[in-house]
Amino acid sequence: MELADFLGLIHPAIAIIFVFPIIGNVVNFAWQTRQRRLQTLANGKSKIPPVVGADHRKFGELLTSAVVGVTLLGLGYAIGKNIVKHQLWSTAPLKVLFIVLIFSATIKCLILLYQARQRLWRGIFASLTGAGLVIIGCQDGVYRLTNEWYWSHYYIGITAALLMIFSVSIVQDIYQDKSQRWRIVHTILNCIAILLFIGQGLTGTRDLLAIPLSWQEPYIYQCDFAQKTCLTPNPQISK
Ligand code: HEM
Ligand code: HEM
Repeated sequence: MELADFLGLIHPAIAIIFVFPIIGNVVNFAWQTRQRRLQTLANGKSKIPPVVGADHRKFGELLTSAVVGVTLLGLGYAIGKNIVKHQLWSTAPLKVLFIVLIFSATIKCLILLYQARQRLWRGIFASLTGAGLVIIGCQDGVYRLTNEWYWSHYYIGITAALLMIFSVSIVQDIYQDKSQRWRIVHTILNCIAILLFIGQGLTGTRDLLAIPLSWQEPYIYQCDFAQKTCLTPNPQISK
């Protein structure tokens, strides 16, 4: 296997080995947090230990880092491949520098989001982290599938990442809001996020199936994808 093909497997492998198990933990603790709260409201006590809420938050923060990280990795691979293919560092060095700066600024803003205590700063750093992802996603080389956005691995992934960032930014509000409004908003949005993660599993495996190995690219990309025909039909299949 060539290096470019191997590098392309790092993003899916990390998503499966690290991100999805963390999603399982977050959802498990989320369910227990809710059950504990409802049981305590109804009976004044619950057998579920109080630590589940803190554990959910801990794993939630880890999940946000993991999802943003895996998103940057997926985008980085696609953009990096495009940079190498067109040798952009010699034809457009400023563009390459801009992309590198946005990558590092996005990571820094996420770190600052975890550290920020005041609502205003959490809002600012959450917005900047999200904006960073969107700007990187707009670069050449990213397979966005905009005309079929509803099953695009890119759009679903970016939306899921933005929902995770939003969750981190409203943590204090979930705890402080006595009317539970933020808790309900958080639960509804993250139930949607679970569906989006399932979508990432489906669209990611589909994309893996569709991407040819490097040595096959010159042949495969001659094919007419709309008509589903290739220049030289395989004689064994057409027999
Ligand atoms: C798949 C992702 C997630 C799902 C499905 C989810 C769902 C939930 C649910 C159902 C609750 C309990 C609501 C209730 O008491 O009725 C909750 C609470 C909470 N969530 Fe999440 N959540 C997710 C991700 C996150 C993330 C990324 C964070 C950010 C750190 C986070 C932070 C919190 C906090 C701070 C609470 C309150 C915990 C407590 O009461 O001690 N969640 N979440
Ligand atoms: C939380 C889960 C995931 C997120 C947030 C995520 C996000 C992304 C993003 C933003 C991209 C770049 C846009 C693009 O080129 O389509 C990407 C690319 C990709 N992802 Fe994922 N992904 C996730 C899971 C997966 C899984 C489970 C697989 C496969 C098993 C997968 C396979 C791929 C492939 C094949 C690419 C294309 C790389 C290329 O452009 O050549 N992803 N992902």
